[in-house]
Amino acid sequence: MNRNFPKTFQAQHQNVQPGLEEKMNPKPIYINKEEAIKKLNDKVAIITGGDSGIGRAVAIAFAKEGAKIAIVYLNEHEDAEITKKEIENLGGECILLSGDIGNEDYCISAINSVKSKFNKINILVNNAAEQHVCKNITDITKEQLEKTFRTNVFGSFFMTKEVIKHLSEGDCIINTTSITAYQGNETLIDYSMTKGALTSFTRSLAVNLVGKGIRVNSVAPGPVWTPLIPASFDETMVSSFGQSNPMKRAAQPIEIAEAFVFLASDGANFITGETIHVNGGEFVNG
Ligand SMILES: NC(=O)c1ccc[n+]([C@@H]2O[C@H](COP(=O)([O-])OP(=O)(O)OC[C@H]3O[C@@H](n4cnc5c(N)ncnc54)[C@H](O)[C@@H]3O)[C@@H](O)[C@H]2O)c1
Repeated sequence: MNRNFPKTFQAQHQNVQPGLEEKMNPKPIYINKEEAIKKLNDKVAIITGGDSGIGRAVAIAFAKEGAKIAIVYLNEHEDAEITKKEIENLGGECILLSGDIGNEDYCISAINSVKSKFNKINILVNNAAEQHVCKNITDITKEQLEKTFRTNVFGSFFMTKEVIKHLSEGDCIINTTSITAYQGNETLIDYSMTKGALTSFTRSLAVNLVGKGIRVNSVAPGPVWTPLIPASFDETMVSSFGQSNPMKRAAQPIEIAEAFVFLASDGANFITGETIHVNGGEFVNG
């Protein structure tokens, strides 16, 4: 998209209302003349936690829109291979990078691998996370607190700090936060805190990078049917998972992915520091 949009306008007035667009100087821009058929044509996207769940759906949706994909994940090689295959079946390209984003050196090497493979990077989706259910704050150990922050917050920070060197005007970062950042969650205290931190990270980084034309936004899902759910909740909680929102069900990952596609595309050119809430109708402030 042509990004030379006017910042000021020459003085003008029309004496009738409704006014006439045809008389305006300059005219409002309403057609993207360079619009590619695919929304992310030729972009390179890194998606942490892209092997499964929401990240997998985002990776496949991005690939459908023409993006080349790099998936960073911890160790679920079987899930990662399936996602790669799905992308290749669509005619797309995908590389898999396995490692711990809590380790800054690993993040640096992962970003460098993507740069060497695709020669550029346009989109970072900070989506990897962990959560551990604890009934009381006294059950949250120092080790768990540190690990949850290391993966969810430090990992996103390390990936972002390194990727910034390669991003330029028109590129973007999207963080996966959660409804828990806004509503809280009685048994996911430390996890919810990390999602609050990512929300503030999104807002601060957005204003920090706005002058460079790099946008930073978030998606805050409600309950979604992904491996995180049976891997963190007990059987009883899993069987009633997602029933309390107005739609009375959990989302499927595909229902979250389009929000990421929109935020990554030129259609979201004037949106930064924002959060899209995809949660089945729960109203949350902020
Ligand atoms: N499932 C939900 O109900 C729900 C709701 C709100 C937000 N979210 C968020 O969605 C995102 C994706 O989770 P999901 O639900 O799709 O589950 P998921 O288990 O499919 O994805 C989590 C991913 O994080 C990656 N990961 C975890 N620790 C890592 C580490 N140290 N280094 C590298 N990668 C690591 C894993 O490889 C995995 O792919 C997370 O940020 C999660 O907090 C999920």
